[in-house]
Amino acid sequence: MGTLRVLFLLLSLSLLLVINVTTAQMPGFLSLDCGGNNNFTDELGLEWTSDNQMIRGETANISVANETRMQYTMVRYFPADNNKYCYTLGVISRTRYLVRATFLYGDFDNNEVYPKFDISFGPTHWATIVISDANTIESQELIFLAMGPTISICLSNATTGQPFISTLELRQFNDSVYMNQFENEFFLSVSARINFGAESNTPVRYPDDPFDRLWESDSVKKANYLVDVAPGTERISTDKPIDVSSNERPPQKVMQTAVVGRNGSLTYRLNLDGFPGFGWAFSYFAEIEDLSSSDTRKFRFVLPGSPELSKAVVNIQENAQGNYRLYEPGFNNISLPFVLSFRFGKTSDSTMGPLLNAMEINKYLRRSDGSVDGPLIAAVTSAYSWAGWAKEGGDPCLPVPWSWVQCNSDPQPSIVSIKLSGKNLTGEIPSALTKLNSLVELWLDENSLSGSIPDFSGCPNLKKIHLENNQLTGELPSSLANLPNLKELYVQNNVLSGRVPSGLLDKDLILNYTGNINLQKGGSRGHRKKIIIGSSVGAAVLLIVTITSCILLRKGNKYRPKRDKHLPSSFDGAGTEAAHCFTLSELEEATNNFERKVGSGGFGVVYYGKLKDGKEIAVKLLTNDSFQGKREFSNEVALLSRIHHRNLVHFLGYCQEDGKDILVYEFMHNGTLKEHLYGPLTRERGISWIKRLEIADDAAKGIEYLHTGCVPSIIHRDLKTSNILLDKNMRAKVSDFGLSKLALDGASHVSSIVRGTVGYLDPEYYISQQLTDKSDVYSFGVILLELISGQEAISNVNFGVNCRNIVQWAKLHIESGDIQGIIDPTLHEYDIQSMWKIAEKAIMCVQPHGSMRPSMCEVIKEIQDAIAIERGAAANKQGSSDEISRHSAHFSLNMASLDLSASEHYLSIDDSITQPAAR
Ligand SMILES: *[C@@H]1O[C@H](CO)[C@@H](O)[C@H](O)[C@H]1NC(C)=O
Ligand SMILES: *[C@@H]1O[C@H](CO)[C@@H](O)[C@H](O)[C@H]1NC(C)=O
Ligand SMILES: *[C@@H]1O[C@H](CO)[C@@H](O)[C@H](O)[C@H]1NC(C)=O
Ligand SMILES: *[C@@H]1O[C@H](CO)[C@@H](O)[C@H](O)[C@H]1NC(C)=O
Ligand SMILES: *[C@@H]1O[C@H](CO)[C@@H](O)[C@H](O)[C@H]1NC(C)=O
Ligand SMILES: *[C@@H]1O[C@H](CO)[C@@H](O)[C@H](O)[C@H]1NC(C)=O
Ligand SMILES: *[C@@H]1O[C@H](CO)[C@@H](O)[C@H](O)[C@H]1NC(C)=O
Repeated sequence: MGTLRVLFLLLSLSLLLVINVTTAQMPGFLSLDCGGNNNFTDELGLEWTSDNQMIRGETANISVANETRMQYTMVRYFPADNNKYCYTLGVISRTRYLVRATFLYGDFDNNEVYPKFDISFGPTHWATIVISDANTIESQELIFLAMGPTISICLSNATTGQPFISTLELRQFNDSVYMNQFENEFFLSVSARINFGAESNTPVRYPDDPFDRLWESDSVKKANYLVDVAPGTERISTDKPIDVSSNERPPQKVMQTAVVGRNGSLTYRLNLDGFPGFGWAFSYFAEIEDLSSSDTRKFRFVLPGSPELSKAVVNIQENAQGNYRLYEPGFNNISLPFVLSFRFGKTSDSTMGPLLNAMEINKYLRRSDGSVDGPLIAAVTSAYSWAGWAKEGGDPCLPVPWSWVQCNSDPQPSIVSIKLSGKNLTGEIPSALTKLNSLVELWLDENSLSGSIPDFSGCPNLKKIHLENNQLTGELPSSLANLPNLKELYVQNNVLSGRVPSGLLDKDLILNYTGNINLQKGGSRGHRKKIIIGSSVGAAVLLIVTITSCILLRKGNKYRPKRDKHLPSSFDGAGTEAAHCFTLSELEEATNNFERKVGSGGFGVVYYGKLKDGKEIAVKLLTNDSFQGKREFSNEVALLSRIHHRNLVHFLGYCQEDGKDILVYEFMHNGTLKEHLYGPLTRERGISWIKRLEIADDAAKGIEYLHTGCVPSIIHRDLKTSNILLDKNMRAKVSDFGLSKLALDGASHVSSIVRGTVGYLDPEYYISQQLTDKSDVYSFGVILLELISGQEAISNVNFGVNCRNIVQWAKLHIESGDIQGIIDPTLHEYDIQSMWKIAEKAIMCVQPHGSMRPSMCEVIKEIQDAIAIERGAAANKQGSSDEISRHSAHFSLNMASLDLSASEHYLSIDDSITQPAAR
């Protein structure tokens, strides 16, 4: 606990050293003038910061004709050795950024050869920088989703000359235009961002583009770049405003110019850096000519060799719904060559030739996982954050290892050697070192380490341990003798005491323990050995006990919890009790002869009841045809009585008398989530965003337990807001589980008749009739969208023409970056980041294919991240009354006002339902 806190302190201290990205001009902009001495603001309004507090390396003045910008008057350069040199920059986790590195050589070292070296993003090789002209700026850009609080950008592997850098720029995005389903595993490496018909050769950037992307002019002709221009290509422009609809679309200035193919064709050839490969490619169109009513402009994209891409006809006016509005067809994932020749050709029924305003092509660059030992070794370096060796930055092994580390060459490398001799280390030997599984050599000699020698059993490959010339105390641990590969152990000149364990003396080993005055040769035998034997017998007995109890549990409980270790407080009773059998008269009395109906669902009507002991219950009178027979009913009851989780409505017992099938549950005082979102209650006591997140978190945990905590796992099959109930404290529990078929053990799906509720029904399940847990994920995605928007899953009026379905509607908004358009107007206090998080996850949940959807576990993580963001935001404005209402939201519901009558659209499929509309 104590060390954890210290670690945390050190971590936060080291974070303080990381430069703060927030500056006055734009939130999330950082412009580093590498090698520069002063901070300054340039004529664009960008605030440049000198990097001299951040990194080692030398600086040099350069002078390049025609380049007067201050940031290009100096460079920072590094030795051409085997090390890497890293910038560590602070970012906001789960936020998208653009990072740009530029290089203007300017002959800074008067070398005969031009430099060639690598740049990496953390462990991922980003690009090889090849300088071929002293006066031309090389530039690399990457769009990424931040996964943690910092990123590191490193230079290494100079094959000629010395690595150097001129600027490093970080630009935070606001919206989600670059969101894609691959971004957890891939970066987008920018290959081309072209402004067609540009009026000057200088790229359009900040402040025209609020995110400072560089829109390159199409008239800058480089070798093999934008060549093969078709005859009849004309440049046009307008002064009229253009509706680009969102900030992250190309800026208006870019859209106000275009090229048109007067002879019916536009053709270009360009080199795509980084390709061949898979990429993200979008064209941007806006009609900026005032066409006469008889004119049409229709054309096709033609990529030689890919006829299937040429099918769609581009009709800007139709798609953008008018002139001067943006239309952006594109490909989220397209395979492209290095030399791209493309054509836009008019269709035969079009009167005008094609038009093109802008284009963006990015390559998917796979993120490297980094070395296995990254997190462990971070615990070591953060404890020595003052030391140069601990500040090398980036991954310990990739793309090249730190100067004091050696790694193996596995695809995901591990550390094999650590050499920290004579580095002024103090304190105890860092315990993280004893967990480096592949470690072969450890050099910690010539330091001031104190405390005792730890147990190195976690490093079974250790061959050499150098601990000499420190101030280590205590005994020489006998566990060292059990290291199977240990060949050399140096502990001389410490203050060790006790006896050298006989195991070490007997081993074929170079062992030097001289200079430890209190350490004596000769292992202690007899007495100590007995203790060891004794304790191992004890352990064995314990083991046997554990095994038998597991077997007993297995026997007695078919649906044993698989992961009870991880769910200590949520799993009560371990499923051993049998279901309680109520008598009908008992229940008639409790419900006052089924007087108060509090709800109805697919399987029957629910009544309020109160037992003699005062306990409130919900009594579900099942419709006659719910179960085929007595046996099926008892099976379900047996199952229900074994599922216990704090986020699942507690099953209390059953009754089967007089032809009635009855299930008894705990009573949930605050009714269903549905009533709170849409019922008459919403106006006065609408639930806040944080509360909605907490409800989502609760429900998701319940579902995840059904999926992974039960053996065999259970698929709910009918998740919806009316099946999420709220207790006195507004904690959510999932109900109506287990009434559906169990998932078959081992099989990934079960086939059975389609059941579910319109609007929540997984389209893949509907089509294939193959049920998997991802069908529940789909339904949960719909619930998340309802929580964001306060809209019901299906509506004939709320989603505009031709759209009845929340999924279709929300997708359209979210994918075009317009989240405001779907946020529940009754929500006022929320952090847009957390909203985005949930919206993006919800969209992943409702992907058409189950395999693309996340697991419930991933969904929970995202919800919890969002909650953390909200709590952080709330903590920042301490004492606000809003904070109080958020966390103690307590709703008193007049039960009499509840009528959950059968407005449920429940269906037990027949051929008549319309196909669910998923895009
Ligand atoms: C430049 O700005 C940074 C961050 O704002 C600051 O830490 C640094 O001291 C400044 N350097 C100079 C030379 O003013
Ligand atoms: C760069 O030029 C400035 C002013 O001309 C000078 O003061 C500085 O010493 C030079 N720096 C290097 C590294 O040559
Ligand atoms: C530098 O400027 C001169 C005159 O303004 C121009 O003729 C020349 O092409 C420019 N050179 C470069 C490399 O831009
Ligand atoms: C260094 O660069 C050379 C040539 O660019 C390349 O062949 C080599 O694999 C690189 N080494 C590392 C460790 O990345
Ligand atoms: C970023 O988003 C916030 C909230 O939606 C908005 O107020 C702000 O104007 C946006 N900034 C830019 C540059 O688009
Ligand atoms: C260790 O500390 C001493 C005294 O503070 C200092 O002189 C020496 O340079 C340090 N050595 C290293 C490798 O940091
Ligand atoms: C053990 O270490 C001491 C001190 O470093 C050295 O003088 C001695 O020669 C070493 N003994 C052996 C057997 O290597």
